[in-house]
Amino acid sequence: MAILKIARMGHPVLRRRADRVEDPTAPEIQQLIADMIETMEDAEGAGLAAPQVHVPLRLVVFHAPGSVENEAPVLTVLINPVLTPLGDEMDDGWEGCLSLPGMVGLTPRHMAIRYTALAPDGSLIDRSVDGFHARVVQHECDHLEGVLYPQRMTDLGDLMFREEMRHYERGNPSEDEEIVSDDVAGPE
Ligand code: NI
Repeated sequence: MAILKIARMGHPVLRRRADRVEDPTAPEIQQLIADMIETMEDAEGAGLAAPQVHVPLRLVVFHAPGSVENEAPVLTVLINPVLTPLGDEMDDGWEGCLSLPGMVGLTPRHMAIRYTALAPDGSLIDRSVDGFHARVVQHECDHLEGVLYPQRMTDLGDLMFREEMRHYERGNPSEDEEIVSDDVAGPE
């Protein structure tokens, strides 16, 4: 296991389309998954995509909220994920990213999505989700297309340093509202 270096906005690996994983069960893929999980947990992120650790492959890890209230988040690994929006409804929410340290932005995402992917054992994952879970998956899978959350924002006036969020008047999240982030959790 190893903690990997995280690429920051501007590095070419974050701007390119990532390649398919040909063999999800290959030892080097299992090693990458273990290192990504360790890196995500060290950085206290909610998710991490392989391009963020300089590996241009279609692989993401994240903590999905539990299906029951107060249940612990469930660690999920998606290989070669495919997303389909469910309906037209969009929702604005705050996001951060380990590749843009210290920043957050108000970002529109589909409220509900279906996603399919392979699990590390090669089995098929097929889920329909909404809310926070749907937002995390959209954020992480955008990394596989070379897209960072500011590219999804409709008003870059809502891009700011996390430390300045307390000054924000419009749409300021309440204390217990969760910010989707592969960055460190929550406003001060
Ligand atoms: Ni990110």
